[in-house]
Amino acid sequence: MVLNIRYDLKHSPQRRNEQFIPDKALPFGKLRTDHMFVMNYDGESWVNPRIVPYGDLSIPPGAVCLNYGQGIFEGAKAFKHPDEEMYTFRINENAKRMNISAEIMCIPQIPEEDQIEGIHSLIDVDRLWFPEKQNGASMYIRPLIVGTEDGLGVKPSKTYTFCVFLSPSGPYYAEGFTKPIKLLITKKYHRAVPGGSGSAKAAGNYGASLRVGRFAQSFGAAQTLYLDTTNTYIEEAGAMNHFHVTADGTIIIPEFTDTILESITAKSVLDLGEHLKVGARQERIALDDFVLKIKDMEIMEAGGLGTAAVVTAVGGYIFEDGRELQVGQGDIGEITRRIYETITGIQTGILNGPEGWMQRVERKSF
Ligand SMILES: Cc1ncc(COP(=O)(O)O)c(C=O)c1O
Repeated sequence: MVLNIRYDLKHSPQRRNEQFIPDKALPFGKLRTDHMFVMNYDGESWVNPRIVPYGDLSIPPGAVCLNYGQGIFEGAKAFKHPDEEMYTFRINENAKRMNISAEIMCIPQIPEEDQIEGIHSLIDVDRLWFPEKQNGASMYIRPLIVGTEDGLGVKPSKTYTFCVFLSPSGPYYAEGFTKPIKLLITKKYHRAVPGGSGSAKAAGNYGASLRVGRFAQSFGAAQTLYLDTTNTYIEEAGAMNHFHVTADGTIIIPEFTDTILESITAKSVLDLGEHLKVGARQERIALDDFVLKIKDMEIMEAGGLGTAAVVTAVGGYIFEDGRELQVGQGDIGEITRRIYETITGIQTGILNGPEGWMQRVERKSF
């Protein structure tokens, strides 16, 4: 307990007072809960931690975040376990990555334990919003930090707002874990350059990716598989790290570089070797070699890893000239399924994961 949080909560009739049991399948990321956590940086320190009704932030039009994109964010999830308590998944990894992004974007860091206390306190207040009796349900957590100083010089803001809000969610893919996707392999567009901000979860990286997403969709692909700027190595998919599985059952994930966001889901797969009963390692993966191995059936499964969907099977790739390449049988492979079942099993409290991965949200009186 390090923060002195002020609770300015909605009054009882205006806020949820019984457990949320949606009467139909919930979308991913659309709903909000009653409250949000907010804290400000006043030029010297983080001040005024508070939980207030969810609503608009007041930011001047000249704010550095609005004009020059000085903003970073995170994405994490919490779950309700059979003991009826709420647990966050590897939230300390998100807090750590937020500070890595902060460093890259010249934003003052927030001690990991303060970030986690803010997040947990908010989940505690809005715990009745966890959507029960839903397949693939989670409480999606979105922390963000934006530069709020009203100043038109291109320089780091002096003031910032840290805000956390929650989204009670169903599964990322409405049809559940059933349909492999197609990825566009593009040599025309790149997500990040060496020495750039690709390893930060910086808002601008996503703004810049929008037209590439649209380009991928024009090929019937769900997302892009980005290459490095020399078009030699495979890097990551639009909002997921990439993996493939070799014929001998080893999971291979591209080595992290400063043009890849270090996925917590990918790191979890690397850490989970014994639970998954397969080898998992990182390599620099040359595109030409990757394509040959898929053609020779030496690569039998591939997919994406990320918090939102956990794991997404990739059934095939399409190139800019229209050529297509199917992976294995083009369906969801056994190891891909095992990754999904193992990680979601740990998240939902059905399986025991490594020590410290699930953190219980303390019940406080407020
Ligand atoms: C660019 C990018 N890569 C990878 C990931 C997956 O990271 P994580 O598993 O931590 O959600 C994300 C999503 O957060 C992302 O936006």
